[in-house]
Amino acid sequence: MTDYVIHVRNTLKHPCQHEFVHCDKKRIVIKAGRRGGKTVGIATRAVNRFLSGRRQLYAAPTAEQTDAFWFEVLRALAEPLQSGALKLDKSERTIEKPGTKQRIKAKTAWNADTLRGDYADDLYLDEYQLMNEDAWEVVGQPMLLDNNGDAVFIYTPPSLISAGVSKARDPLHASKLFKKMQSDTSGLCAVFHFTSWDNPFISRVALQIIARDMSQTSYRQEIMAEDDEVSPRQLIYSGFNESVCKVPRMAINDRWIVYSGHDFGGANPAALFFAQNPDTGFLYAFQEYLPGGGRSTFQHVEEFKRITAGLHVNRRAGGSHQEDEIRQGYAAHGWPIRAPKIERVGAGIDKVRGMFELGKVFIFEDLVHTLSELSVYKWKVDTSGTITDDIEDKAKFHLMDCMRYILGEFAPETADIRGGPEVRGGW
Ligand SMILES: Nc1ncnc2c1ncn2[C@@H]1O[C@H](COP(=O)(O)OP(=O)(O)OP(=O)(O)O)[C@@H](O)[C@H]1O
Ligand SMILES: [Mg+2]
Repeated sequence: MTDYVIHVRNTLKHPCQHEFVHCDKKRIVIKAGRRGGKTVGIATRAVNRFLSGRRQLYAAPTAEQTDAFWFEVLRALAEPLQSGALKLDKSERTIEKPGTKQRIKAKTAWNADTLRGDYADDLYLDEYQLMNEDAWEVVGQPMLLDNNGDAVFIYTPPSLISAGVSKARDPLHASKLFKKMQSDTSGLCAVFHFTSWDNPFISRVALQIIARDMSQTSYRQEIMAEDDEVSPRQLIYSGFNESVCKVPRMAINDRWIVYSGHDFGGANPAALFFAQNPDTGFLYAFQEYLPGGGRSTFQHVEEFKRITAGLHVNRRAGGSHQEDEIRQGYAAHGWPIRAPKIERVGAGIDKVRGMFELGKVFIFEDLVHTLSELSVYKWKVDTSGTITDDIEDKAKFHLMDCMRYILGEFAPETADIRGGPEVRGGW
């Protein structure tokens, strides 16, 4: 077999995927967002393990997933298949090394009965949240006991979108398994959690298409792969009324006034642009900017100018109060940014909440990063279950920082934000 090139995917660019592909634990649970790279990662793992002599069984409840898995396997093993070193049975979806038990098989299965009839050293249950738990309990687990095999469970937290097609008895069984394995101390288990955004191979446009019609709850579950119930008290911006304030993109009139919020940082610079309709005072978040690392200040500014071409930019605010030097750098390139008016995070958040409650801040529905952050931006809960004043994973929320910096310039105490900060002069 060493004479052939095996075309497995390079997983190095997707560190989470890379880690689970090579993880050697006996039980692995992967919780990840839609298009996060779950199935490709599993196919890569299965091919590697098959080549090391192990027998692989992959099962998913929908033909779509089985097809995706099988496509990857055929792609990886194309050369040894062509030469006849491996044998393919198309209708059974198996590939075998003749004369050995070494095999890789994909099947569509959603419960014990449909999974029955095979054995393996490695069992993969993809879209496990949609399967009936008896697939594992009645068939999978005993199957692995015979040869001390390994199992990987892959799922995306179930949302209402998937509720209709689920065969599960308990719709939260996969989440419960994740939690159980997370707290397991045997050393035999591993859990992985990553979001759709962590997959560097998927285009932003493709994700926008998937995410556009999602509610905030579905974003949280299907994109951010969070399966804990979040109480509105814990969610920082629960006052954002998505049914009214998440709106389809519309043209920005050149009479409208632009405001931008900026978060600095070499690895994750971010900016958020709002345009205000002077007739209504309504503010529309119309552009998010999250380019990743590697761009210079000059390149950022070029991009900001492109985004706001033909529009009047009234104010730009951002950075912490210590970041004056960075602001000066932007000013030198023709993009002067002020230090945010409100220094304290809590006070800035209060201001944004006030503006959301007025119902005058809108977000274009294709600003999926902003909406994703909004859906999981929450207060930390301490061990006794009390909600604290600290933001959970604060450092990850670059667009929420941008939003706070610029909306903090407005005066929400008043029901009329018409005219913007210059005219209201509430600061
Ligand atoms: N290592 C990789 N190299 C190249 N492309 C990749 C890699 N991992 C994932 N992709 C691409 O990312 C996309 C999503 O991958 P995949 O189907 O594995 O995600 P998923 O999490 O299983 O998605 P779904 O939620 O739809 O089942 C696919 O287009 C796939 O080809
Ligand atoms: Mg998949």
